[in-house]
Amino acid sequence: MSDSYCVFGNPIAHSKSPAIHAAFAAATGQDMRYAARLAPVDGFAAAVAEFVAAGGRGANVTVPFKEEAFRLATRLTPRAQRAGAVNTLVFADGEILGDNTDGAGLVADITRNLGIELAGQRILLLGAGGASRGVIAPLLAAGPRSLTIVNRTADKAVALAAAFADIFTVDGGNFANLAGRSFDRVINATSASLGGESLPLPPGIFAPGSLAYDMMYGKGETPFLRQAREAGAAYCADGLGMLVEQAAEAFQVWRGVRPDTQPVLAELRAALAG
Ligand code: ATR
Repeated sequence: MSDSYCVFGNPIAHSKSPAIHAAFAAATGQDMRYAARLAPVDGFAAAVAEFVAAGGRGANVTVPFKEEAFRLATRLTPRAQRAGAVNTLVFADGEILGDNTDGAGLVADITRNLGIELAGQRILLLGAGGASRGVIAPLLAAGPRSLTIVNRTADKAVALAAAFADIFTVDGGNFANLAGRSFDRVINATSASLGGESLPLPPGIFAPGSLAYDMMYGKGETPFLRQAREAGAAYCADGLGMLVEQAAEAFQVWRGVRPDTQPVLAELRAALAG
């Protein structure tokens, strides 16, 4: 029987992960199956236990279970430890290994797919929730000139910056701290656009040649990318590439093979536009 994987989430019906991993498996000739599994909000651990008992080899974890997956893991990779959240689980030898491929996915999408450098750049990260925390260590590993985190609730950005002080001097504050400053890469990790709200970005924040990257994606331009384009960002990209790249990274963790992401990304992009 082929090796079994899944993604746990709630809701999960619209997850693109099963299609992405099916395409990766077909392209790399891996004998595996991958399904979406709805876990009750208060029943994540039981759902994982049931899947493991049925022979499951690994899983992805999405909203709202990433922090719970972090706590459930019996072993964590250093990047998951730093992220404080887990999006990839490996079940082997009675252990639950927790990993986090979100940040690697973001960095791969920006540097490989978009061909835009992070090394030596002034990066601004918007938001200080779980999505933001998950990508900080990989962004720092890319060697930026500076990293600034701002958040509506400033305390959270300050605390998050302090949590990485042992590897880099990260600057944390609120949106008002941005007045008069400009950045080369501006990454939106807030959930503001879910509520259709724009962010209080002062004018001049986008340096010439800058990238605006929204970790969200959807049909058409996201509210943040519209705002960024109007404010003069030179390049705008949504998070669809990050989604595919974090999946490729998880696939590699499980199967030891890195799939080509380009055909899958092109197909998803076409489906989103259609
Ligand atoms: P996630 O796991 O997606 O990061 P989260 O932990 O709830 O979710 O964090 C949501 C982030 O979006 C936070 O940084 C939040 O700011 P606060 O910490 O001040 O709540 C940010 N956010 C949500 N709505 C926002 C809005 N309308 N304007 C600015 N920031 C917003």
